[in-house]
Amino acid sequence: MKSTVRQNLLDAFRNAAGEFISGEKLANTIGCSRTAVWKHIEELRNEGFEVEAIRKKGYRLAEHPNTLTENEIYLGLQTKYIGKTIHFYESLPSTQQVAKELALNGATEGTLVISDEQTLGRGRLARAWHSPKGTGIWTSIIIRPKIPIQQAPQLTLLTAVAAVQAIEEQTDIDVSIKWPNDLLINGKKVCGILTELQAEENQIQSIIIGIGINVNQQLTDFPEELHSIATSLSMEVNDKINRAKLVQSLCFHLEKLYETYLTLGFQPIKLLWESYALSIGKQITARTLNGTYSGIALGINEQGVLLLETSDGKIQHIYSADIEI
Ligand code: BTN
Repeated sequence: MKSTVRQNLLDAFRNAAGEFISGEKLANTIGCSRTAVWKHIEELRNEGFEVEAIRKKGYRLAEHPNTLTENEIYLGLQTKYIGKTIHFYESLPSTQQVAKELALNGATEGTLVISDEQTLGRGRLARAWHSPKGTGIWTSIIIRPKIPIQQAPQLTLLTAVAAVQAIEEQTDIDVSIKWPNDLLINGKKVCGILTELQAEENQIQSIIIGIGINVNQQLTDFPEELHSIATSLSMEVNDKINRAKLVQSLCFHLEKLYETYLTLGFQPIKLLWESYALSIGKQITARTLNGTYSGIALGINEQGVLLLETSDGKIQHIYSADIEI
């Protein structure tokens, strides 16, 4: 995690919005010596940031590198707490595991764990999540809502809405949600969400929201078995996408929706989710552990459970399933 001096320096540059700040002013606002300021600026330069220095004027942050680093994410964040504490790794087995340990050790709400690569990325239903280096967003975010445990799945749906909004904002591509939490572009999966819960005596201690977004992979970066079912944002727009900006946007939308949820409840989130959902009103097949059901997807209830009307007019409550549309 970054030092407070570094964090304050980035805040000062962000507030200066591309204008020069004198070394003295930087040292005063940050609360350190001018030598320390200079040392941190050298570190930023080594990371690829272009920091201009002009005598009598001071320093100005000119260029941002198009890389995924802790500083790059932090600089453009427009949130109050989601993503304000970042744990960045070059490689991890899974961000879920690290986030879980941090949450157990008291990490604050909004703490974000992100890795440039996962060697043992996990998906829903104990599947593997392919997370090659330098291509995607593999992140886990800790939240601590004071809600009854049975409402926790609502946060998965909320995250799916936030991810749709972030992707649409950064790419202009239309994204839809396949219940419960797969994001699809033209029928192919681009993002998956895995939420895990820590509870004690029926009280939620934390929810770890794991989000995987295929961003800059090309077809050959995917294993053969995924070629017909997965895609990346870059493949859809034929361009490279700035991953740090996408993370910032994800944090922004997540925080906005989460605040709405905490003040107004699930109803506004449910409406948004349904507006992006692919399957509502359509004939679908749900393969659950207890059997396979076919029918019309009516929508979701307050708990985020999928309601499926079978041909005999019965309403099945689907808690966990693979859906075919
Ligand atoms: C799914 O669709 O099955 C969910 C995929 C979730 C993948 C993300 S990537 C970041 C976090 N770490 C993991 O190991 N999994 C989640």
